[in-house]
Amino acid sequence: MICFMKPAFDQRIALALEERRQQGLNRQLTGLCGGNGSRFSAGEHAYLNFSSNDYLGLATDAELANAWKKGIDLLGNGSAASPLVTGFSSAHQALESRLCQWLGYSRAILFSSGFSANQAMLFALLQKGDLLLQDKLNHASLIEAGMLSPATMKRFKHNDVTHLKALIEPNALVVTEGVFSMDGDSAPLQAIEQCLPNSAWLAVDDAHGIGVLGEQGRGSCNQAGVKPQILVVTFGKAFGLSGAAILCDESTGDYLTQFARHHVYSTAMPPSLAYALTHAIDLIDTQQWRRDKLQELQACYHDQCASLEGYVETDSPIKPVLMGSSARALSVANALREQGFWLTAIRSPTVPVDGARLRITLTANHTVEHVTQLASALKRVLED
Ligand SMILES: Cc1ncc(COP(=O)(O)O)c(C=O)c1O
Repeated sequence: MICFMKPAFDQRIALALEERRQQGLNRQLTGLCGGNGSRFSAGEHAYLNFSSNDYLGLATDAELANAWKKGIDLLGNGSAASPLVTGFSSAHQALESRLCQWLGYSRAILFSSGFSANQAMLFALLQKGDLLLQDKLNHASLIEAGMLSPATMKRFKHNDVTHLKALIEPNALVVTEGVFSMDGDSAPLQAIEQCLPNSAWLAVDDAHGIGVLGEQGRGSCNQAGVKPQILVVTFGKAFGLSGAAILCDESTGDYLTQFARHHVYSTAMPPSLAYALTHAIDLIDTQQWRRDKLQELQACYHDQCASLEGYVETDSPIKPVLMGSSARALSVANALREQGFWLTAIRSPTVPVDGARLRITLTANHTVEHVTQLASALKRVLED
C-alpha cells in the first residue's frame, strides 16, 4: 500500500508559524534603502533610524569605505578558503596583530561573526564534567552553545555577584557580556573577577562595549580594569563592519587554531574586510570625538526622556523603554514609525514575555536635534 502521509515538517512549520502569529510575535524582514545611517528610507517613506548598533557612525563613514575599496584593489574579493588552507592573508595577520597590540593580548583569532566566535569558544573549551556559569541575560549564541555543550551549565541572576558566588566552583568557566545588548547596562566586571577562584576562567563578550567604552574605546574590560582570560569582540557594531575575534593567551590561541571548528572549517573573512577592520581600529583609537558626541547625545536623551514611563537609565548608547506586553511595544513602535522614527519593538523570545520594550540606540551620526525630535514623538505617543 502506498502511504501518502504528509511529512511531519509541513505540519510543524505551519503550527509554529500560526502560534507566532497568534501570540503577536511574528517577525518580518524589511528591505531598507540608502545605507544604515541616521536616516534611511523603506518603501516611499523616510525615517530617522534609532535601531542600529552602529554606535560610532562608522557603517557609513567615507574614509572607512575608501579603506575597504583600497583593500579590494590590493587583495581581491573573497578569501577563497578557510584560514588553515589559503584563506589567511597578510591583511588577516595585520588585523590580528593590531587587535593584540590595542587590547593587550598575545593572540587574536578571527571569525566571520560574533555568533560563531561565541559558539566556537564554548564548544572548543568545554568538556563533560565542566561547570559553565553564565549571566541569565547572555546573548542567544552563548546560552545556546552552553546548552548544547557537554558541560553542566548554570545561569546566575543578571549581574548578581552574590548568586554567582553561591554557584562558583574551582575550574568553572564564567561568561558574561560587558554591556548587555537588550538592557544597555554593564556587568560588574571587577566584582566578578574578584570572586573567582584562581583556577576559574572569565570570558567576556564585549560586543556592545568595544569601541564605545574605556580608553580610546578599548571596551568594558579596559574601563573596569579587568583582564579576562578570554575577550570576545565583534565588528558588526561600533566597528561599522562585520566579523569578530577571540583574544587570549598564546597557548589558548594555538588551541583554538586547532579546535575552534567555526574558525577551522569556515571560509575566512574577505582580506579586504580584514584590511578595513585594521583601519577601523585606527579610527576608533584616534577619533575620540565620536565617543564625546555619544556622551552629549546620551545626556540630552536623559534630560528629555528621564520622566517617561518605562525609561531606563544606562551608561551605554542602548536606551530601553520598557513597555510590558508585546502588543503595547508593537503598537508604540508602529505609531512612532508613522511619525517617521524607526525603532524596533523587542519581544519574546529575545526578552522575557512581560519584558517587551523599545530598544533605542544612539549613534555618533545623530544630532541633538534628532534626539529632541525623538523625545517629543515618544512623549506624544506614550501619553496618548
Ligand atoms: C552580546 C552579543 N554577542 C554576540 C552577538 C553576535 O554577533 P554577530 O552579529 O557578529 O554575529 C551579538 C549580536 O547581536 C550580541 O549582541
